[in-house]
Amino acid sequence: MTATHTIALRIYRHGGPEVLTLEGAPLPPVGADQALVAQRIIGVNYIDIQHRSGRYPIAEFPAILGVEAVGVVQAVGAAVQGLSPGDQVAYIHVPIGAYAHARVMPAERLIQVPVEFDLPLIGTTINRALTAQYLVKDSFAVRPGCTVLVHAAMGGVGQLLVQWARALGARVLGTVGSSDKRQAALALGCEAVVLSTDADMVAQVRALTLGEGVHAVYDGIGGAMFDQSLHCLRPCGTLVSFGTPAGPIPPLDVFRLNQMGSLYVTSPSIFTFIKTRSELQRRSDEVFAALRDGTLKVAPPTLYPFAQAAQAHTDLQARRTTGSLGLQVG
Ligand SMILES: NC(=O)c1ccc[n+]([C@@H]2O[C@H](COP(=O)([O-])OP(=O)(O)OC[C@H]3O[C@@H](n4cnc5c(N)ncnc54)[C@H](OP(=O)(O)O)[C@@H]3O)[C@@H](O)[C@H]2O)c1
Repeated sequence: MTATHTIALRIYRHGGPEVLTLEGAPLPPVGADQALVAQRIIGVNYIDIQHRSGRYPIAEFPAILGVEAVGVVQAVGAAVQGLSPGDQVAYIHVPIGAYAHARVMPAERLIQVPVEFDLPLIGTTINRALTAQYLVKDSFAVRPGCTVLVHAAMGGVGQLLVQWARALGARVLGTVGSSDKRQAALALGCEAVVLSTDADMVAQVRALTLGEGVHAVYDGIGGAMFDQSLHCLRPCGTLVSFGTPAGPIPPLDVFRLNQMGSLYVTSPSIFTFIKTRSELQRRSDEVFAALRDGTLKVAPPTLYPFAQAAQAHTDLQARRTTGSLGLQVG
C-alpha cells in the first residue's frame, strides 16, 4: 500500500504569492510505468511565478505549481525497469505539480542522480543547467572567439550561461539589474558588466565590441529589453529570447531583421530539447559532467522551508536573489 495523500502547495486562482495554500492533496495510485517519489528539495523557478500569476494560464484549479524537484523513489510500477526504491532522482516536468511532499511521476522522466552530488544543489539546478546546456549548444552554438551578451548574469540561468559560454571559449559580457551584483558577475567570468537599467546600455555594449556588436544575446528578461538586445547584435547575430519576467515580447515585423543586418531570433523552450528519454539522458549526462569537471561551479542554493514558498516567490520576483532557489521538505 502506498500513501493516498500528500501535503502540497495548491492555488485556486491566479494571483500574487498569497494564493499559495498549504493543504492536503490526493496522490494517485502508482501506475505500471510510474514511480512514487518522496520529494526532498523542490526547485523554485521563474516559470512558477508565471504560472501563478497567469502569464502562463493554468487550465484547471486547484493546481499545484512547480516543474522541478529531487527526491528518493519510494515505489515503482510493475513495468518500470532500471529504477528501484531508494534511488535518488531528479526531474524537470510538465504538467506542473512539483510543490508537494510526494509525487507520482512517469518513470521515464526521472533522472538518476549520481550519489556524489548534493541533492539540494541538483534539485535547484537541474532545470537551469539543462536550459543553459541547450542554450549554449543548440540555440546559439557558442564557439571560441565569439562574443556573447548574457542578461541577468547573476540570475539562476544567467550564472550557468556565463560559465558555460566562457568554458566554450567565448568572450562573455554581462548585464545586471543593480550595481551590487556587478563584482560577482565579473568574478564569475564576465569580461565586462553593464547595468541593464542604464539608458545607454546598448551603446556601452557596442563600445565594448568596438562598435561591431555581439554574436549572440541570451535574453531571459524580455519586454522592452528585447528591442535593446536586437540593437546589441552584429550582422548575422542571434537573439536568443528565452524568458520574459519583464513582460511579453512586443510584436516583431520580421523584415526588421533584414534591415538590421540579417539577424536571427529564436524563442526556445527547454521542453523541446528534452522531449525524448534519450535527449533527456544525454543532456543530463552533459550537465553532470560539467558539474564534475568544474565547468559549472554552483554556489549553494538559497533554501526556504516548504511552507515559505510565498517568500521565495516574492524575493525572486523582486530581483533580490542570485543563483538558484529551492523549497526544503521536512
Ligand atoms: N525557455 C526556457 O527553456 C527556460 C528554461 C528555464 C528558465 N527560463 C527563463 O529564464 C529566466 C531566468 O530564470 P531563473 O529562474 O533562473 O530566474 P533568475 O534569472 O534567477 O531571476 C530573474 C532575473 O531576471 C532579472 N530581471 C530583469 N528584469 C526583471 C523583471 N522585470 N522582473 C524580474 N526579474 C527581472 C533579474 O536580474 P537583474 O536584477 O540582475 O536584472 C532577476 O534576478 C526566466 O525568464 C525564466 O522564465 C527559460
